[in-house]
Amino acid sequence: MTITIDNYRPGDEERMKDIAARAFSRFTREGLDFMLPRDKVEDAFREEVQSYTRRAQEQTEGLGVFVARRDGQVVGHIALVVNQGRSQQFGMKWGILASLVVDPDYHHQGIGTALIKRAMEWFREQRCEYVEVSTDQNNIAAIRAYEAAGFRVIYSGLTLSQKLSD
Ligand SMILES: CC(C)(COP(=O)(O)OP(=O)(O)OC[C@H]1O[C@@H](n2cnc3c(N)ncnc32)[C@H](O)[C@@H]1OP(=O)(O)O)[C@@H](O)C(=O)NCCC(=O)NCCS
Repeated sequence: MTITIDNYRPGDEERMKDIAARAFSRFTREGLDFMLPRDKVEDAFREEVQSYTRRAQEQTEGLGVFVARRDGQVVGHIALVVNQGRSQQFGMKWGILASLVVDPDYHHQGIGTALIKRAMEWFREQRCEYVEVSTDQNNIAAIRAYEAAGFRVIYSGLTLSQKLSD
């Protein structure tokens, strides 16, 4: 088995969308509440991949999308952004690790860690001085992987919601 990490290539997006929809559906990520219809939640994760990959195809500045391949097949991806607003506001290049996902069939094999390693190289290539990532406080695998890469928890918040119709 060979794992490689390289740039996203047009044609990768269908596997990436499928993986994101399956991998994220266990979490209330980005306030996507468990009471919301699951098909719509999965669509939201597919659309997120669509947005990154479309912008990657347009060669948008300050965007990096890398893909993990196992024997050539896409098994995960990571999306990285240089946030212009924050960079200007704080006078230093500000990176955001925007999305990381590994196919649930291949968790716990070091693929997420390998994607984060490539991400940190990319942030350095971009001359970022600060990098942030957000995740759920119950996402143990993600927290362990980010902490191993040097991140430290700086904030833990809550999103509250209610449904106003029956
Ligand atoms: C988070 C995620 C990307 C990690 O990918 P992965 O390829 O399984 O990660 P690795 O194999 O490199 O393992 C990273 C760490 O998580 C731990 N880990 C992996 N799966 C785990 C699990 N199911 N339970 C507990 N720890 C786990 C590993 O032991 C490792 O920690 P360690 O080095 O201290 O032992 C993957 O679980 C995933 O895609 N989850 C759903 C999407 C998601 O949550 N993305 C991050 C949101 S910001």
